[in-house]
Amino acid sequence: MLRIINLSKSFNKNTDNEINIFNNLNLKIEANKSTAIIGPNGCGKSTLLNIIGGSISKDYGQIQLKGKDISELKEEQRAIYIGRVYQDPSMGVSPSLTILENMSLADKKGEKFTLRKLIKKNNIDRYVELLKDLDLGLEKKLNTKVKFLSGGQRQSLSLVMAAMKHPDLLLLDEHTAALDPKTSSVVMKKTKELIKKYSITTIMITHNMKDAIEYSDRIIMLNNGKVVLDKPSLNVTENELVKIYRTNIQENIA
Ligand SMILES: Nc1ncnc2c1ncn2[C@@H]1O[C@H](COP(=O)(O)OP(=O)(O)OP(=O)(O)O)[C@@H](O)[C@H]1O
Ligand SMILES: [Mg+2]
Repeated sequence: MLRIINLSKSFNKNTDNEINIFNNLNLKIEANKSTAIIGPNGCGKSTLLNIIGGSISKDYGQIQLKGKDISELKEEQRAIYIGRVYQDPSMGVSPSLTILENMSLADKKGEKFTLRKLIKKNNIDRYVELLKDLDLGLEKKLNTKVKFLSGGQRQSLSLVMAAMKHPDLLLLDEHTAALDPKTSSVVMKKTKELIKKYSITTIMITHNMKDAIEYSDRIIMLNNGKVVLDKPSLNVTENELVKIYRTNIQENIA
């Protein structure tokens, strides 16, 4: 499904602040599976997702999606195949637009349209059904501006919007990290239901080992730009992950 081939990336090249993030990274992500990426702060997790999504360019290597090289496509072009939910609840949605307008925009991804024709009456029933699935009552707030929603409601809406066109790949970058534990758990459960329902291949970054095990099929730990653990979630325990994680953080500090 997704292949990262010989990926290299540095920031601030040829300056005193040059940081080498990846040096010949290779990864294969299987279709219809959820892969969790864990690893210490600054190890390159978000950079990897940004390179896949196209918001940051690679220095060298190739990103293949379903056998096609997408490395040279712009972020907007990749957005047709790739859905994203960010850590910050204000990203991924337009706060000054209503729920209905946001969903209509997400529905038009990759199409040319005029604002006047943005909202089609016959699509509203479909949006209502998608929102009902969330169980948060958002279907009754279609005309509420998104800036008036709570963080959890916004992240859930972002998730539905990212998944509604059934993307080939869904990228989640700590999408529950800004939420309180209870809301975070609700959004994680909704995430699992959505990706199972539509069989979406997902890459999820998290710092929560329990979530990584519970909500993914495979766990990859990165450290210093390298894969230091790659196992089916069923074959790892939270204790084991925490132990390896701590060892890697110590190596980072040393
Ligand atoms: N656009 C950029 N320009 C310069 N440096 C950057 C840029 N983006 C990221 N970095 C640096 O690259 C390193 C990796 O950052 P990245 O955000 O990928 O880490 P991360 O693994 O997602 O960390 P966290 O768990 O804290 O989110 C960090 O040292 C960061 O400061
Ligand atoms: Mg990050």
